Amino acid sequence: MHKPGNVLMVCLGNICRSPLAQGVFENMSKNFKIKVDSAGVASYHAGYPPDKRSVNIAQKNGIDISMQKARQIRTKDFNNFDYIFVMDKENFHDVRELFSYHKANSIIQLLNDPFEIEDPYYGDDKGFEIVYDKIYQGCKRVLNNWK
Ligand code: 4NP
Repeated sequence: MHKPGNVLMVCLGNICRSPLAQGVFENMSKNFKIKVDSAGVASYHAGYPPDKRSVNIAQKNGIDISMQKARQIRTKDFNNFDYIFVMDKENFHDVRELFSYHKANSIIQLLNDPFEIEDPYYGDDKGFEIVYDKIYQGCKRVLNNWK
């Protein structure tokens, strides 16, 4: 995992963790000419903007994610993205399962490997601060591998 490439951030709903991961990674990887996007395993929030709590923690850190729109992962993502970074083991399992039906080359990995970034949806604002920190660490980890 040492070469820059297009990155897809994936969580369950694509409204809390992966929009934040997209924003943080876009911000950190400005020197690379790569595409960064995010998607959810599930479709139930498709078309919606990120959760307000994610928008707020991003804004607190100088990043605007308010224009993002949730979408579900699709099979062509496995051809368009070199790396698919997932937030937890359940995402990993779900994405691997989809992936196994298609001939594709994406590398699928936990963003903050070997740690998980837990779903903050039913928690409070503190949970989003923890998620932000873990996402930040995970993005740093990836970029350090690219140097
Ligand atoms: P995300 O968080 O996967 O980080 O976007 C969630 C958002 C919504 C739900 C679960 C997780 N939900 O069950 O509606």
